[in-house]
Amino acid sequence: MSRTSLCAIVLTAPLLLGAAPAAAASSPLNFTSVDVDLPFGERMFPGPNADAINNNCLACHSAGMVLTQPSLPRKTWQAEVEKMRSTYKAPVADQDVGPIVDYLAKLKGAD
Ligand code: HEC
Repeated sequence: MSRTSLCAIVLTAPLLLGAAPAAAASSPLNFTSVDVDLPFGERMFPGPNADAINNNCLACHSAGMVLTQPSLPRKTWQAEVEKMRSTYKAPVADQDVGPIVDYLAKLKGAD
């Protein structure tokens, strides 16, 4: 089978399958707007004392990557920040580590 005909099958199969029920109902598609609030979808870290984390932790991934983690004990957050620095070479200055860990322990801390 040629590449072109394989493409044709792959592209038209869903159209054919999708068209059958719509044709049976013979009603036009109605699109409606849905308003959804996704938790922690923001690009930046929210709330007070977020400067250090916003300045150091957004170069490689969004805030959501961090904020959708489970709540963690402070020392686990400390280790996480150290991992970003050592394993992933995040350029975080020594004096920023404390404020970042404080922020994470406050917002997403666990005992
Ligand atoms: C140099 C790039 C870089 C920077 C800067 C960075 N990270 Fe990461 N981070 C990564 C990579 C790479 C991953 C792993 C992504 C994956 O697994 O898909 C990650 C994943 C994470 C995760 C998910 C859990 C995990 O361990 O995989 C957390 C939480 C996290 N980072 C927190 C932080 C915090 C807090 C900072 C600021 C101190 C930070 N990151 C800065 C590269 C970075």
